[in-house]
Amino acid sequence: MNHFLDIHKTDPTELRAMIDQAAAMKTARAGQLHAAPDAEQPLKNHMVALIFEKPSTRTRVSFDVGARQMGAQTMVLSGADMQLGHGETIADTARVLSRYVDLIMIRTFDETVLTEMAEFADVPVINGLTDRTHPCQIMADILTYEEHRGSIAGRKVVWCGDGNNVCASFLHAAGQFGFDLTFAGPQVLDPEPEFVELARAQGSKVEICRDAEAAVADADLIVADTWVSMHDAQSARERRHNLLRPYQVNAALMAKAKPDALFMHCLPAHRGEEVTSEVMDGPQSVIFDEAENRLHAQKAVMRWCLGV
Ligand code: CP
Ligand code: NVA
Repeated sequence: MNHFLDIHKTDPTELRAMIDQAAAMKTARAGQLHAAPDAEQPLKNHMVALIFEKPSTRTRVSFDVGARQMGAQTMVLSGADMQLGHGETIADTARVLSRYVDLIMIRTFDETVLTEMAEFADVPVINGLTDRTHPCQIMADILTYEEHRGSIAGRKVVWCGDGNNVCASFLHAAGQFGFDLTFAGPQVLDPEPEFVELARAQGSKVEICRDAEAAVADADLIVADTWVSMHDAQSARERRHNLLRPYQVNAALMAKAKPDALFMHCLPAHRGEEVTSEVMDGPQSVIFDEAENRLHAQKAVMRWCLGV
């Protein structure tokens, strides 16, 4: 069963094939209206369930549109409206959904909800973000980097801010796609050591740095994300802001990186907090290409899951 649960759990050759297929499918669609079907309909007669236990704009719309372009029918389900949110077990939910749908994408809180869903479902399950990782985002980010600058292998990526779920999937990708990653942030918000060690074991140079300016020297790509994720307590907001303010990505920080460095952010962004509008809207920013590429990358992920 091809579950897409995390980047480090997927074979690097298959990850590469997904990125290449995503790029080819994007090219093939050039100039078409979003609702126009793809020439190929690999997901024809497939039913896709998209389950959200947290808010979403990009993941929700890009999966739905992508599945439909490939010929599938879709249903978007809110966790709160399902029995899942009212005491039915994940295992029973997985077994039941497998009788109706061919593919499940779930965005949830605790990673065990995702892994249990995958364990008990008879159909592939895709991770649409958990508190711990966000692999689909990073597939889109790799596609985006390579569209603009060629192979990401051997490049230096600098993550500025919280060592959160998106950072974790970047670390997984560093090992699998062969790039280096420097984390710039406060010690209490370091990424999980397990993820750092895994990337290092795969040959990536991973550095942990407390000084943002030193971190971005020679960077090919600078990445930021919100300082307060959906799973973080709102009561921690002020403390997090105080800790993370020195890691804001602004024009002065971008100027310390390589002149052709790109800026990425998975969005939603908080302008003036983790990144300034000047950087978000500036010439090095590729944030809206990233958002678009969620669509193309996830179409390749769905095809891989279903083997079509
Ligand atoms: N980047 C991302 O996953 O966005 P959404 O939360 O809007 O899906
Ligand atoms: N780190 C953010 C990413 C949102 C797409 C969160 O989990 O809220």
